[in-house]
Amino acid sequence: MCGIVGYVGPRDCSDVLVSALTKLEYRGYDSAGIAVFENNAIKVAKSKGRLTDLTKKMQKEGKPIGHAGIGHTRWATHGEPSDINSHPHSGKRVTLVHNGIIENYKEIKQFLMSNDRRGFLSDTDTEVVAQLLDFYYDGDPIRAIRKMLHEVRGSFALGIIFADRPDTVYAVRCESPLIVGQGSGEAFIASDVPAIIQYTKNYYLLDHGEIAVLKNGIASFCDLHGRMVEKELKTADWDEDSAEKGEYEHFMIKEIHEQPTAVKTTITPRIENGMPDLSECGITPDMLRGYQRIFIVACGTAMHAGMVGKYVIERLARVPVTVDMASEFRYRDPLLSEEDLVVIISQSGETADSKEALNLSKRLGAKTLAVVNVKGSSIAREADMVIYTHAGPEIAVASTKAYLVQLSVMYLLAFEMAYANGKLSEEECRRLTASLVATPAAIAKTIDDLVDDCQYISTKLITADSLLYIGRGLDYALSMEGSLKLKEISYIHSESYAAGELKHGTISLIVDGMPVIAVATQNTLLEKTVSNIKEVKSRGAMTIVVCDELSSIDPEAADYIIRVPRIEEVLMPMVAAIPLQLLAYYTSVNKGNDVDKPRNLAKSVTVE
Ligand code: AGP
Repeated sequence: MCGIVGYVGPRDCSDVLVSALTKLEYRGYDSAGIAVFENNAIKVAKSKGRLTDLTKKMQKEGKPIGHAGIGHTRWATHGEPSDINSHPHSGKRVTLVHNGIIENYKEIKQFLMSNDRRGFLSDTDTEVVAQLLDFYYDGDPIRAIRKMLHEVRGSFALGIIFADRPDTVYAVRCESPLIVGQGSGEAFIASDVPAIIQYTKNYYLLDHGEIAVLKNGIASFCDLHGRMVEKELKTADWDEDSAEKGEYEHFMIKEIHEQPTAVKTTITPRIENGMPDLSECGITPDMLRGYQRIFIVACGTAMHAGMVGKYVIERLARVPVTVDMASEFRYRDPLLSEEDLVVIISQSGETADSKEALNLSKRLGAKTLAVVNVKGSSIAREADMVIYTHAGPEIAVASTKAYLVQLSVMYLLAFEMAYANGKLSEEECRRLTASLVATPAAIAKTIDDLVDDCQYISTKLITADSLLYIGRGLDYALSMEGSLKLKEISYIHSESYAAGELKHGTISLIVDGMPVIAVATQNTLLEKTVSNIKEVKSRGAMTIVVCDELSSIDPEAADYIIRVPRIEEVLMPMVAAIPLQLLAYYTSVNKGNDVDKPRNLAKSVTVE
């Protein structure tokens, strides 16, 4: 969703803002803008479209020159993408950028209009906040911000400048993510660390309701009551290169290739003497023994990782698992008790629906466990326990490495829980754990072996209007992710379907040449899946079968066979995910789409 940046320091502020915004492009946006103090006056430049459109506009009309300012990439919510609706927005003496939603903006607008404030130019909720701040501004910025915070409802983050406070940037966080970077003699605000990593690795995490003041290159903080706050300076544990494409054409393919390392880095610290050990995350076998039911709640890809988790935990640990989309869970009045564990999976740790599902679970008394990639994110901080995945920054909107590390955590959890519950012997648990430890090598081999095949097979998909992904059991769980991956970046309609359910209706969709991608890695179900493949093949489908290297597939059933290494059956999604990611990637590339920033999508969905 929207990205916020801000800068105070000796560099050319406009250049810093645009460069930092470029690093937030992955969040998704449709317009961009900056505001900079130039000779003590605020100069604004904004434009619908990409950052390159903004840069072109500034080349034509003059770039603001100065050393303090704020910038923004907007993902439209209130009002269409347009120059006018782009941020920054201004009141008379206040200019600001905003990420999030102001829920009561209509009431505030009404209030302002009844107080003779009528000059609204845009359709945005943001401009209402700028006007409200201006209404309260009596020369004391902190007092005005605090008053504004008492009136405004919603989850949001703001970067603010006041016309009579040159070269000072203010920022406030209410739920939506915001960090404050501290360099040597310069300070930054940003929605996410990649924006500032080229300048500094040191940053502060703003807490809910905290206000930051960036002045003379130094950041200071106060709380909602105006009291000064001392904050812990954190250091990002990854370098500039991890947020760069390097030799790769797109972040997505770079991140696909990073998967062996990401999985290894995620599982290694959680294995002790060949056995799963989540104690570094505060999770003990005793705890795992105590849960009557498990709910896995997440969105999109993270929810699909939860589907794999369900199959594996139920199969091995014999504890019932329900998987819910966070957007449904939060409104379905779920039945939870203190004996239940709610697992929230999220790459960003900031997804609005997942965050609310977590809050609801806590209110209902369940224990909560977050599986999160971004350190210090809201979900990670608010859950009772957290298992961090160590994928490093994931920039491409289409999630790949975050999915695989989420799967690896599901396996660790399932193995330890199964052992704790006495459902898995020590020997079996050691064997499965050793197989998990071996997956990074198998993933690397799968990528190396399949790039060319998938590139070729993707050329058969680009003209399709629609396709199906089918599978049974774990293969079905994985096919959900394969289907999402393809549709989000290739814009081809696709559905995932349980293979055995096809003949109850969906098979009527099959027409000559329609691609059907069948995931058939579960040997215990192979025969049944192959029958389903034949059913669609005999009705004209073009079938692409993903199976292991040893399975014998009737050549008549498959137009194309993609073979992945045979590993432990329960772990097959760890390697079978690779061709699904590669097929989606190359289909998108072949269609000439913007692979890393697909239309209408945002990386981190921080509004409902
Ligand atoms: C998948 O490729 C998408 N990026 C999307 O489905 C994503 O997984 C979902 O929005 C959840 O995000 P989160 O993991 O950051 O909570």
